[in-house]
Amino acid sequence: MKVNAKHLLFAALSALSLSLAACSSEEAADKKIDTGLSESVINNEEFKDKFPLQYESYMLNNEDTQDTKYSGSVKRSKYDHDKEPYLPILFNNYGFATEYNEDRGHTYAVEDVTKVARINDVSVGSCMTCKSTAVPQMIKEKGDNYWGGNFRKDIVPAVEKLGHSPIGCSDCHNPKTMELRITRPSFVKAMKETGVDVSKATKNEMRSYVCAQCHVEYYFKSSNKEVTFPWSEGFKPENMYKYYTKEKEAKTFEKDWVHGVSGAPMIKAQHPEFETWIEGTHGKNGVSCADCHMPYKRDNGKKYSSHQWTSPLKSIEDSCRTCHSDKTAAKLKDRVTEIQDTHMKALHNAEHVSIKAHYYVNKMITLKVSEAKIKEAQELVRKGQWFWDIVAAENSAGFHNPQGSMDSLRVSTDESNKAIQLATEELVKKGANLEEVNSEIEKAMKKVYDEKDNFKKKTHAVNTYFTNQAPPMPAPVKK
Ligand code: HEC
Ligand code: HEC
Ligand code: HEC
Ligand code: HEC
Repeated sequence: MKVNAKHLLFAALSALSLSLAACSSEEAADKKIDTGLSESVINNEEFKDKFPLQYESYMLNNEDTQDTKYSGSVKRSKYDHDKEPYLPILFNNYGFATEYNEDRGHTYAVEDVTKVARINDVSVGSCMTCKSTAVPQMIKEKGDNYWGGNFRKDIVPAVEKLGHSPIGCSDCHNPKTMELRITRPSFVKAMKETGVDVSKATKNEMRSYVCAQCHVEYYFKSSNKEVTFPWSEGFKPENMYKYYTKEKEAKTFEKDWVHGVSGAPMIKAQHPEFETWIEGTHGKNGVSCADCHMPYKRDNGKKYSSHQWTSPLKSIEDSCRTCHSDKTAAKLKDRVTEIQDTHMKALHNAEHVSIKAHYYVNKMITLKVSEAKIKEAQELVRKGQWFWDIVAAENSAGFHNPQGSMDSLRVSTDESNKAIQLATEELVKKGANLEEVNSEIEKAMKKVYDEKDNFKKKTHAVNTYFTNQAPPMPAPVKK
């Protein structure tokens, strides 16, 4: 695809982009500004009069009505029939089998995390980390008592008392100078492990780093529940899997949960937009998150960055044609949809193989196959699902790195198939009727699919034929 070189330069060369922005904007970005605000201000309202254009565009994050084919801003369940109806099987016995929704605007972050049924009475402070502007101060003051603090009893009242906002100006800007800044220490630490000193980042890198504080894969460290990014081996799915395998072998972090169907110790992947992007074409060419997700807008000749973070497919003119001016908006959109359609087909295929693998391992357990073989198959299931989930949990439906995501799905399908093969050999030795097993899998899947009450879907994943293989999770707490 031919790219408008002038605009790429514009995006990549921070100094140039600074001076150009200053020419056409009231806010002379290269002139040092002093807002008069203290560096510790955390409430968005304080910025309203000083930066009305950015503030107003930020408020557009409240729009929760417009969806694109695979993304958009409507609050909907991921279990919907046109999304991933079998997630209550794949995440069985974990909170993600109870409620799992599509993402929407930043302004809903606090509301959505406090209301989701995944939060229970043992949920920890760490769950607030990518939601509230009060978090940096909480980490500084409370340390491990923040990460491991009780979410409902301690952390929610504390952030409310501080007068916080959901994902706000102070999360990405120094309120005094409005320079971009990093406020989440987990990102600084993890980048250091990859050999990058974030304090030396260029302005263009900061246009992605501010997002990478939250749009990443993470886990809660076993010892103190600290939000930790698994990057010391690299950003690819296989690098992160290697990291988790090392943690498991060192007994420092084994699993997020035990799977209800296969009894396998599982890892849940979380929204790795940054890791996916950085390995893709745009990431490698220095095209930042802000280039596509915060396009420049104009208001009476004043140029500003849109602070409505949503699907760039709603603003292709401003988000893509700045560089791809040789293509019409319709052509660009078609290309994205093509990439995403292919991606979703492979995703759903990997998902089905993973489901079958869980059930086959279930039968290995109930037919009392040797411990060693069960463990071996469980490891294959864990690996297969990881390479699927790290792509499924990513929010661009393959666009951020089409080839990398496809490769991950290939590995996923291979590993899950290996589990099925191993199980098949053992089940045949035990005289199992595989036709019956397969038809019971179909039946369980159909029951999950047909159940209209989302909260009950997970209960159909196990039954008298495929019995539960894990201790139940703590019950969700009523709000
Ligand atoms: C080259 C342009 C481009 C870049 C760079 C880019 N994205 Fe995206 N992003 C997209 C497109 C296109 C989609 C798919 C939108 C759709 O399907 O409607 C998307 C989807 C998303 C979504 C889901 C949106 C939704 O509506 O649910 C998130 C979140 C996201 N990107 C975050 C990021 C982050 C964080 C970065 C940087 C690490 C980034 N993106 C870099 C183009 C880009
Ligand atoms: C998620 C991170 C993030 C949040 C939250 C955020 N900004 Fe920004 N802001 C950016 C980025 C990235 C830029 C582009 C910086 C650049 O290229 O120089 C930017 C640019 C700006 C600029 C410079 C002029 C412009 O429009 O490019 C101002 C002023 C600004 N933001 C104000 C605000 C205000 C006010 C809020 C809160 C209502 C806010 N920002 C919230 C990331 C953020
Ligand atoms: C402090 C954490 C944090 C930062 C920083 C952050 N995000 Fe987000 N982002 C979130 C959370 C949490 C959600 C989901 C909110 C919800 O669904 O309630 C989200 C949702 C989104 C969405 C989906 C919106 C939709 O319409 O569906 C996009 C796109 C997005 N972010 C892009 C970005 C970009 C680009 C940046 C950097 C400029 C960024 N985010 C910085 C936490 C963050
Ligand atoms: C700041 C410049 C810039 C912006 C903005 C940008 N792109 Fe690109 N895009 C590039 C570059 C550079 C390449 C790589 C070109 C090459 O290597 O020949 C590329 C490649 C692509 C490709 C080829 C597929 C691939 O992954 O290899 C597609 C499709 C594409 N862009 C679509 C989009 C869409 C859709 C948007 C808006 C959501 C967008 N781009 C925004 C610079 C940009």
